[in-house]
Amino acid sequence: MTEWWKSGIVYQIYPRSFQDTNGDGIGDLPGITQRLDYLADLGVTALWISPMYPSPMADFGYDVSNYIDVHPMFGTLADMDKLIEEAHQRDLRIILDYVPNHSSHQHPWFLESRSSRDNPKRDWYIWHDPAPGGGPPNNWISRFDGDSAWEWDETTEQYYLHSFLKEQPDLNWRNPEVRETMLDVVRFWYDRGVDGLRVDVSYRVMKDPAFRDNPINPDWREGMEPYQRLGETMTKNTPDIHMFNRWLRAVNDEYDDRVLIGEMNLPYEKLVAHYGSVREPEFHLPFNFHLVFSPWEVNNVRQLVESYEAALPDYAWPNWVLSNHDQPRFATRAGIDNARLGMLFLLTVRGTPTIYYGDELGMENVDIPPELVQDPWELLTPGLGLGRDPVRTPMQWDGSTHAGFSEVSPWLPVANNAQSVNVAVEQADPNSMLAFTQRLIALRKTLPALQLGDYRTLETSDVLYAFERFTKSERVQVVLNFGADSTTWKPDGAVKILLASHDPDPPATIQDGVELLGHAGAIVQPLE
Ligand code: GLC
Ligand code: CA
Repeated sequence: MTEWWKSGIVYQIYPRSFQDTNGDGIGDLPGITQRLDYLADLGVTALWISPMYPSPMADFGYDVSNYIDVHPMFGTLADMDKLIEEAHQRDLRIILDYVPNHSSHQHPWFLESRSSRDNPKRDWYIWHDPAPGGGPPNNWISRFDGDSAWEWDETTEQYYLHSFLKEQPDLNWRNPEVRETMLDVVRFWYDRGVDGLRVDVSYRVMKDPAFRDNPINPDWREGMEPYQRLGETMTKNTPDIHMFNRWLRAVNDEYDDRVLIGEMNLPYEKLVAHYGSVREPEFHLPFNFHLVFSPWEVNNVRQLVESYEAALPDYAWPNWVLSNHDQPRFATRAGIDNARLGMLFLLTVRGTPTIYYGDELGMENVDIPPELVQDPWELLTPGLGLGRDPVRTPMQWDGSTHAGFSEVSPWLPVANNAQSVNVAVEQADPNSMLAFTQRLIALRKTLPALQLGDYRTLETSDVLYAFERFTKSERVQVVLNFGADSTTWKPDGAVKILLASHDPDPPATIQDGVELLGHAGAIVQPLE
């Protein structure tokens, strides 16, 4: 049997912004449960829910103060159980965000750890004496503000490490007690029926044991992110990271059918190492972020596919993503005209796709006026365009005042275009982005070649990119027009059009060329 996560589609939900049910302007778990029918109709397979744990919200939930509970703002553990149960009834899986690199500074473990040097939990975090001449122990810098990743603690006169905010102290995974406790967290959720984990910055968990300096990055220029002033060879993707991957995988494999997705942004030759080997497997899906960080341009996209395909070992299954809660939405990055083309590519190229909530509607970044900024990253590095609020705005359900997201003014403003770009309007329009996405997913489900088939490039030009997905008994071809002008693609012989990105009712059989509008694409099947 093929694993569900190979043929399936992951849908990422940012819980603060999906659906509010108790009128506080913030999304919650009952809100997700309430919208499960929408997600089942859309046809996705698994919901990845960004952190919903108790948290002081210094980094909107990525600062966890209790790994085995639910933040009251999001609901209760009982709400989570209900969500899991109701999702499973609809054949939807639940993937939680697991944040192993750091906890909140308000986590009871850290409160104990910082209380005295001989507290039993002292070594649960990464404490260090000052450098011999005073000051932080080394040059490591925090991902968010570009200042030292070491914070001085007056009471116990040592520094603690925080790769992100100082409210997010790094856990010490070299301590077996930490390891056992954090791995029990995985068991806790798997015992409740959770189907997998998306592991937050997994490749940062193991740091250089000798705490050596990171190298200077000679390519750093003004305007780049402050933390990029240094290379990160000592703080990220260190050789020991594979130990961590294997610890996690071992616990994962105590259970049937669970999936591990690792958050890491690496070149392909390094990324593929995180699959591990057949004998010592690591992540099922080390996230492939390349499309998020490079231009939507025909040659780039094709080259990414080809170099990824070439780098993947036989046993490794690919994956693709266009948007997430940290980066500009695809429709904004690539331009709204490319929204359908991106979705078509994402759902037909070989590998597990992850759709970010709202991308199926063509949601775009929302400009956030300075007085409404929430994201600590924007507040710490203003003006660099790093703020993530624009991609975290409320899901657009209908044309009502708060877009059907909430009865009250939401924690981030609703997009100006929510009157026309929303679920209700798009469900009623067969030529909407939503209707297109739904048709695409439905078609994908009927074609094993699109889900699990092999890949080969058919043709590329300055504007066209065509590829084939195939099994022993099925061939399906996808053609994408990256250009702004209409063009014709001449396949090898007559084809049947299975789906067109901009025409809900395309002509069935094509003898002499598939006409494509600018930024349009199609899925076809050779007739012979
Ligand atoms: C990951 C998350 C991001 C978070 C950071 C720190 O990159 O995706 O949202 O701020 O880790 O946990
Ligand atoms: Ca709420």
